[in-house]
This record gives sequence, C-alpha cells and structure tokens, in this order.
Amino acid sequence: MPDLKVCVVVPTYNERENVGALVERIRGTGSGEADIMFVDDSSPDGTAEAVREMMREDPRLHLLVRGSKKGIGGAYIDGFREALRTLGPDVLVQIDADLQHPPAVIPLLVGSLSSGAGAAIASRYVRGGGSKGWSMSRRLVSRVANSYARTLLRLPVKDCTSGFRAMTRQSATRLVDSRLPARGFEFQVASVYVLKTGVKILEVPFIFEPRRIGSSKLGLPDVLRFMAAVLRLAIRPPRTPPA
Ligand code: GDD
Ligand code: MN
Repeated sequence: MPDLKVCVVVPTYNERENVGALVERIRGTGSGEADIMFVDDSSPDGTAEAVREMMREDPRLHLLVRGSKKGIGGAYIDGFREALRTLGPDVLVQIDADLQHPPAVIPLLVGSLSSGAGAAIASRYVRGGGSKGWSMSRRLVSRVANSYARTLLRLPVKDCTSGFRAMTRQSATRLVDSRLPARGFEFQVASVYVLKTGVKILEVPFIFEPRRIGSSKLGLPDVLRFMAAVLRLAIRPPRTPPA
C-alpha cells in the first residue's frame, strides 16, 4: 500500500546506542517513506541529542521530549497525539527502540490492515512466532502475564502484552480520547481492551529478538505494577469511545 502515510512511534529511555541502527533498519526494510517519531523522557545518556543529530539529515524524523521518565504507556499516548496533530498519518506503528522488534515486520503489519482490521499485533504466541534467547524465568513471566491479562480482561488476542503493533488513525484517535489510566507497560493490554469493542484485531507472527545493547526497563516493580493495573482495569473498565 504505497500511498498510505505511516508514522512509526518509538518510546526511548537510554537508547542512544540503538536509535541509529533502528532508523537504518526501518528505512532499509520496506518503510523508507515513513515518518518516525521518537518520544524520549530526557534520557540521561543523551538519546535525544543522538536523534537531533540524525534529524539534520532526515526531515521525516521527529522528536517529542518529556521532562522525566514517566512510563512507556504515556509515551505512546503523547506520541500518538502529537503525530496525529502534526503529521496526519493513516497508520501508526508502535515499536521498541532496542531492535527486539524486527523492523522488516512493519510492512506486514501495515499491509494486514488492508483487510479492514483496526489493529495488527506482532505476536509471539501464534504459529510461526516466538522469542529468541529468553531464560526460562523470563519465558514464564511473559506467559503468566499474558494469560492473566487475557483472562481477566477477556482479550481476543494471544499476545496481548506485545508492544509491536500497527493501527489505523481511527484506532489511535480512540486510544488518545479514551484517557487510559495506563502510564506503564499495562498500556499494551489496556489498549487492546479499548479497541476490542468495535474493531477487528489481527495477529501476525514474529520472533522477539534478544536485546544486544543497553538494558530492559521492565523490572520486578513494573511487573507488580502491571498485575495491579490489570486488576484495576478489570474492576473499573476504562471508557471506550465509539469506533
Ligand atoms: N519514553 C519512555 N519512557 N520510553 C520507555 C520507558 C519510559 O518510561 N520505559 C521503557 N521505554 C522504552 C525503551 O527505551 C524501549 O524502547 C521500549 O520502551 C521497550 O522497553 P524495554 O525496557 O526494552 O522493554 P522490554 O523489552 O523489557 O519489554 C518489551 O516486551 C514486553 C513483552 O514481553 C516491551 O515491548 C513491552 O511493551 C512488552 O510488554
Ligand atoms: Mn526491550
């Protein structure tokens, strides 16, 4: 779908060493024309500076800086709002900065929306999907978190915590308008909860790669916050604006 305007939104916290390779891979694997919006929470390692450096050469790179580390969920909401307001994309893509999400899958996610779906999720838990180089414990935590959220919130997808997705402008607008109380990693499941009424959600298999540079920001406190947040969402469901 060459005439679709795509904006890739990338939350970053201490990803200075990854942003260059990410942009290269996005440009080199079928999304050459896409806008890329970084949402950086004033990373102490100077990620924003590295992005600004690249912006001098590439007018389709954009940067939204927030004052302090405020969570991946809020970064997506703020990035979507800014992208919708300033760039007018047809499709918004969510991807991590650390190359654990292979950019070559972006065209498949975007392309699958042509079937009329409102969102496409890159999934580890459908046939052909998986994750490389994970310890048993990380595997278990991911499986448990997934089943827990899927069951409690009745989510119609296998990989509801995946942070690699594409969605239509309409779906992204609904997420921004729904004022989701989901600032952290629970954003991934809360957004599926909002979108499941009204639109079709597809899953496309992908392999979650090991992180090569930098470290994960998802620690035990985040997992516990995630569990509590899902419980709160189940007890007090967020408002779901009409599709
Ligand atoms: N702006 C901003 N603010 N970005 C953040 C923050 C934050 O507070 N926390 C994390 N990020 C960015 C990271 O810099 C990275 O680009 C992306 O969000 C994902 O963070 P990671 O720390 O790499 O997460 P992960 O690899 O442990 O978890 C991934 O897999 C999970 C499923 O297993 C993410 O994709 C999760 O969303 C997903 O649920
Ligand atoms: Mn990661």
